[in-house]
Amino acid sequence: MITTTGLTKVYRSGGREVTALDGVDLHVREGEVYGVIGQSGAGKSTLIRCLNLLERPTSGTVTVAGQDLTALGGRGQRANAALRAARSHIGMVFQHFNLLSSRTVQDNVELPLEILKVGRRDRAAKALELLDLVGLADKANAYPAQLSGGQKQRVGIARALAGDPKVLLSDEATSALDPETTRSILTLLRDLNQQLGLTVVLITHEMDVVKTICDSAALMKGGRVVEQGTVAELLATPGSELARELFPVGGEPSAEDRTVVDVTFHGAAATRPVISELARTYNVDISILGAAMDTIGGKQVGRMRIELPGRFEDNVVPIGYLREQGLQVDVVDGAAADAAPATTPLQKEDAK
Ligand SMILES: Nc1ncnc2c1ncn2[C@@H]1O[C@H](COP(=O)(O)OP(=O)(O)O)[C@@H](O)[C@H]1O
Ligand SMILES: [Mg+2]
Repeated sequence: MITTTGLTKVYRSGGREVTALDGVDLHVREGEVYGVIGQSGAGKSTLIRCLNLLERPTSGTVTVAGQDLTALGGRGQRANAALRAARSHIGMVFQHFNLLSSRTVQDNVELPLEILKVGRRDRAAKALELLDLVGLADKANAYPAQLSGGQKQRVGIARALAGDPKVLLSDEATSALDPETTRSILTLLRDLNQQLGLTVVLITHEMDVVKTICDSAALMKGGRVVEQGTVAELLATPGSELARELFPVGGEPSAEDRTVVDVTFHGAAATRPVISELARTYNVDISILGAAMDTIGGKQVGRMRIELPGRFEDNVVPIGYLREQGLQVDVVDGAAADAAPATTPLQKEDAK
């Protein structure tokens, strides 16, 4: 549904250059919820604004639903009209809602339809239908100031759906909301994704959001996508930082001459007593330093940090055994253990 190739954005201001995006190749499948995660300044907002050409990339291409948006636009009225039409199929939701305070809820939802020159009756019918869809049918005549944060975001979502988009882009839509309201908005996004077949790209700095609703995710650092894939693919990728963030398992080695490994269970391996089989087969004492279990996309996934006696060289055979059982085994050396504390840098980061 969305492909970018070599997407680059350089901001020039006051003689300084900032490379906000540095050759991003993104692949978002039709009908999935795709999470983009990364620390403040990583380039997430720039990326999402380039996906609908709110921001024009310095170089690279953006293709949405088979249409190369970067080839549209440019100068001239006709070019602008083509870009506007393409953009109407991409809805956007913002962290601070961006509602017009002087307009009623219904008039806010009608705004994009006014721009598309839809007639008054059709606009009203569409707005009321969308307000019903987001659970705000009774607030059509209210003003934004009379609504809670969660209700305002529902209006923002209804407005984003006015042009019957195929894609919904969301930049930290839940960052200004409390945890309970966050959950209800995420549930709404998931429902819209499933009911309307809507492809959703959402930016977040919260791993919980990724865990709750994302099928796929990308990790951004310094303007680059350093990891991307389905959650299952990420979990099966040795050394994946996103996988470690999704399943933080703490636990320090008890002594120098010990080998610490993170074992990731998914699919059939999750339900077999592999660790006790290992202990029996090789007659080793295994200590469990930490563990996390979760259900992602309806599948049970887990990660366990275990400690084996002896150094790595002494444990090549048992580690090979675990891998043969279809488990993902990441050997944690001292440095890596330090890099994976119980609370992650992403979770600590403040919403801007
Ligand atoms: N309009 C702009 N002009 C100049 N620099 C910008 C502009 N927007 C963003 N940047 C810079 O680009 C980088 C990426 O910013 P942004 O995309 O907002 O990151 P994120 O959303 O991940 O926090 C940052 O260094 C930021 O300061
Ligand atoms: Mg941002």
